[in-house]
Amino acid sequence: MENKIVGLTQQDTPIHRALEEQCINRLARFDVPGHKGGRGNKELKDFLGETCVKLDMNSMKPLDNLCHPVSVIKDAQSLAAEAFGADNAFFIVHGTTGAVQSMIMSVCQRGDKLLMPRNVHRSAINALVVCGAVPIYINPGIQKKLGIPLGMSVKDIAQSMEENPDAKAILINNPTYYGICSDLKEIVRLAHEKNMFVLVDEAHGTHFYFHPDLPISAMEAGADMSSISMHKTGGSLTQSSMLLTRNTINPNYVRQVINLTQTTSGSYLLLSSLDIARKTLSLHGKEMFEKTMQYADYAREEINKLGGYYAFGSELIERQYVHDFDRTKLSVHTREIGLAGIEVYDLLRDDYGIQIEFGDIGNILAIISAGDRNLEIERLISALSEIKRLHQKDKVGLLDHEYISPNVVLGPQEAFYSHSVAFDLDKSCGKICGEFVMCYPPGIPILAPGEMITKDIVDYIRYAKEKGCFLTGTQDMEVNTLQVLGE
Ligand SMILES: Cc1ncc(COP(=O)(O)O)c(C=O)c1O
Repeated sequence: MENKIVGLTQQDTPIHRALEEQCINRLARFDVPGHKGGRGNKELKDFLGETCVKLDMNSMKPLDNLCHPVSVIKDAQSLAAEAFGADNAFFIVHGTTGAVQSMIMSVCQRGDKLLMPRNVHRSAINALVVCGAVPIYINPGIQKKLGIPLGMSVKDIAQSMEENPDAKAILINNPTYYGICSDLKEIVRLAHEKNMFVLVDEAHGTHFYFHPDLPISAMEAGADMSSISMHKTGGSLTQSSMLLTRNTINPNYVRQVINLTQTTSGSYLLLSSLDIARKTLSLHGKEMFEKTMQYADYAREEINKLGGYYAFGSELIERQYVHDFDRTKLSVHTREIGLAGIEVYDLLRDDYGIQIEFGDIGNILAIISAGDRNLEIERLISALSEIKRLHQKDKVGLLDHEYISPNVVLGPQEAFYSHSVAFDLDKSCGKICGEFVMCYPPGIPILAPGEMITKDIVDYIRYAKEKGCFLTGTQDMEVNTLQVLGE
């Protein structure tokens, strides 16, 4: 697979252009989808609009094939690779979950060790359930005041590499959901010295590629692979994502691994949105993220003037566990006003019509983008001011940490596929968990299969439920029981 783009520039959008040509051709459609450009489903057409349903086509020769791209998808992927400084780019239509899983499964097989922080998204541990690789967790640093997990220190990573010289790869969040970055360049240097691959979950870092004042991107730091949520901060449609690779990884094998789980009917709405978003980012990304940083900096300053709240930023950088900070993230600590983050999240939506990204035990996160306007930023600031005035209370009794270090007893695959039974949550301390438990978002497991259930964890789950966090992952939809092993 060669990354040569003959006669195309970043102004071009090959998939988008091919789709438009198919519409102009007035094709008589005798293929799927059966709604046939919306004629077979008027209600859908009226709801989504004629353009949308007309463009909802299936693979055909002029539109290429996502599983085996040879023309317009290949060109669009090559343009994306060029825009992101990668050797290859793969379009993914089942979310960054798909990208993360393919990334891990491209380098890890059953029994292989993968060094990783424990504050990863569930998709990374899911990949281990599927492929049978085993995690070697490196504890992230903890910010005591905020209670949040940070990045990994180079010292801890070096020690883990010494202890596990046979590890295949290391996985890194760049950045975490809260905007925290580890020292990626140094980690890449250490890993490559030990012949380990560097895999980066850049679900929250698409924008790093397009502004020099943002933290270093995975490709620039020399990482081998990166999963990019174009749909999060890159401007494409929800569920569209990308996997970037360097030539240290065989791209033809990666394509086969992606095809183990990806659909054979890739949506052209998603694919063309990736194409157009890449063009927009490469032509206008710098201005877009300049504006985003200005909005976020302004909001941080104004929220901090309200008192009680702490909108944290670059002052967290101490080079050990916080090597860099993503200024576009507007994370606000809420515990000092006596409210859990999830309570502020609910109040913002229910009483002020403001939907933010997430609220957890002690923090909220608002995603800022070039799509925002002054008006919305001011609305958010004044709603937070009102919430403080109306709902502030004593913080006594509020839980003060988002992260509990895991006690891993079995690998995720072995535990997930072991016989397990439902056990009352309150009585499950000391048992080994057979399933995931997490608040979504952020989707970082509180428990993963194979981990010991402790009192701390049970208290955390109870508290998160009581405060209104959306708990997921368990067989029991109410999370009153957990699947435990060995009964
Ligand atoms: C760090 C991280 N990685 C991966 C994902 C998975 O992304 P998606 O929802 O597109 O599957 C998420 C989703 O929130 C995430 O936060």
